[in-house]
Amino acid sequence: MHLLIPAAGSGRRMGSERNKLLLPLLGQPVLAWTLQAAKQAESIEWIGIIGQPCDWQNFKAIVAQLGLEDTVQFIQGGATRQESVYCGLKGLPTTADRVLIHDGARCLATPDLFDHCAEALRDCLGLIAAIPVKDTIKVVDAPTQLITATPDRSNLWAAQTPQGFVVQDLLQCHEQGIRQGWEVTDDAALFEQCGLPVKIVLGEETNLKVTTPVDLAIAEFILKQRSMLP
Ligand code: C5P
Repeated sequence: MHLLIPAAGSGRRMGSERNKLLLPLLGQPVLAWTLQAAKQAESIEWIGIIGQPCDWQNFKAIVAQLGLEDTVQFIQGGATRQESVYCGLKGLPTTADRVLIHDGARCLATPDLFDHCAEALRDCLGLIAAIPVKDTIKVVDAPTQLITATPDRSNLWAAQTPQGFVVQDLLQCHEQGIRQGWEVTDDAALFEQCGLPVKIVLGEETNLKVTTPVDLAIAEFILKQRSMLP
C-alpha cells in the first residue's frame, strides 16, 4: 500500500514559528512518531512525505534516523492541506492503485490502524478512520453566536486519518474541486461532494491530531502510558 503523509503545514495554532511536526515529543520530533508507526505497519510499502523545502533537511534527518531512506519519497506541498494532497497524488508512482493518506500531525495512530484501513480498502472506493462523537455538537451562526441547530449525536462521527481511496477516483475529485472552487479540510469531503461512497473504519480514541500545545501534553502522556505496557 502507498501512503501519503501531508506534512507541509506550519505551527500557527501551536504558537510556534516552525512546522509543528518538528516540535519535540518525548525526545523525538512529532513526525518521527508518525513515521515509526507507518514503518511498523505491515501493509505500508511506500511513503510519500509532502512538505515544504524549508523542512527538507530536518525531514531527511528523521527519515535517515528511522532507516526509511529506501521507502520514502519527498514531494513539495502547497498552501493548503487540500493543495498538498493534490501534489502528493500527482507524485505517486504510476503503479499506485489505492492510497492511504495520513496527517503527519496524527502521531499516535497505531500500526494496526494503518493495516486495518489498508485491508478494508481492498473492498471499497473510499474510507476514513472515524470515531463516534462523545460531545453534543452545536451548529452556531458566527456573527450572532447563536445556536441554529443540534444535530442528532447518534449520527455524528469525528473524522480522523488514515483516509484511503482509489487513486484515480480521488485525483478526479480533487480536479473537480479545483474547477468548482471547493475548499475542504479532508479528502473524504471531496469524494462525498462528487457523490462517491466513503466507508467508516473504526478509528482510535488516542489518534489525536497535534494542533495546540495541550495536544502535545496529552500525546506525551499517552506515549508514556504505552511505554509502560508489558
Ligand atoms: O493544520 P492541520 O493540523 O489541520 O493540518 C493537517 C495536516 O495537513 C498536517 O499534518 C499538516 O502538516 C498538513 N498540511 C499540509 N499542507 C498545508 C497545510 C497542512 O500538508 N499547506
